[in-house]
Amino acid sequence: MNIDEFISQLESLASDAEQQLASVTDSDALEAARVEFMGARNGRLKDIQKTLGQLAKEDKPQGGKKLNEAKQRITSAIENATAALETSSASSGPQVDPTLPGIRPHLGRVHPITQTIEHLKEIMGKLGFAVVEGPEVEDTWHNFVALNIPEDHPARDPLDNFYLTVAGQQVDPSAHNARLLRSQTSTVQIRVMENTQPPVRIISLGRVYRPDEADATHFPMFHQMEGLWIDEAVNMAQLKSVLRMFATNYLGSNVKIRFRPSFFPFTEPSVEADFLWNDTWVEFGGAGMVDPKVLAAVGYDPEKVSGFAFGLGVERLCMRRHEVSDIRDLYRNDARFLHQF
Ligand code: PHE
Repeated sequence: MNIDEFISQLESLASDAEQQLASVTDSDALEAARVEFMGARNGRLKDIQKTLGQLAKEDKPQGGKKLNEAKQRITSAIENATAALETSSASSGPQVDPTLPGIRPHLGRVHPITQTIEHLKEIMGKLGFAVVEGPEVEDTWHNFVALNIPEDHPARDPLDNFYLTVAGQQVDPSAHNARLLRSQTSTVQIRVMENTQPPVRIISLGRVYRPDEADATHFPMFHQMEGLWIDEAVNMAQLKSVLRMFATNYLGSNVKIRFRPSFFPFTEPSVEADFLWNDTWVEFGGAGMVDPKVLAAVGYDPEKVSGFAFGLGVERLCMRRHEVSDIRDLYRNDARFLHQF
């Protein structure tokens, strides 16, 4: 064994140790490395140390010095590895690198129908209509009876409504308190008039339910905007003006509107309002002067007050404005569709 060989063995041992210790990730690996390099009996440094005696006498001091240097390098590599393990286990839980860019949360959008509802409220608000709400689960009194819809009217047919069983009892659609999902927002007219004295100028927007087969223009749940204006001398000309102002505001000043005579049990006279869409007249709602019988049913004096009411289809308005041709698209929850709004 000559001194050069001795030194080069120490060199490669120390750099082996440094490399191996730099990559330990747990205390078991650290301890194994410590034993391997610095073990008192069979450690690799010890093995080299045992050959010190074979060096020439004059090389021994240099050999001893190099041995100490190597020992020093391995010791500091062990210390560094110990410190690194301690800091990483001190911050328990997931390791976070605060310098990495974050993940931007995915922001959703307001559904097009909700956007439409907000827009309609804004337009009607400017025309002086306050917003009120009503329940979606209704009784036959508010959905039919008070609206002058007699028991034998086809609109009350159980096949055309979602009647609800209450407490397991048999549904009796002729009872005033039978429950159903409201089929129209006209229920809110009654609720408001029952609780407020005229003048009344409100709109109410919300869901209505009818057991219709879903197709491009029908869906078993849709939204209506109900309007009601009661005062001392409200007339039909005002009804037409309000609907016209509303339609031009929402659909643009070049929209074409027409009023057709119609019939509703709770208005007299009654009209249906249409707008022109791709050369076809499409109904966007019904309206009329509130029937005196309805005013009387809620305790108003038909001799003193009059008023008009209207009920417009929210989906249809939204579809016309945004050129949506299939109502089902609004409820498919396909993000590619919804992202366009
Ligand atoms: N409620 C009627 C419907 O759903 C619309 C309407 C409302 C008609 C108010 C007249 C007055 O068809």
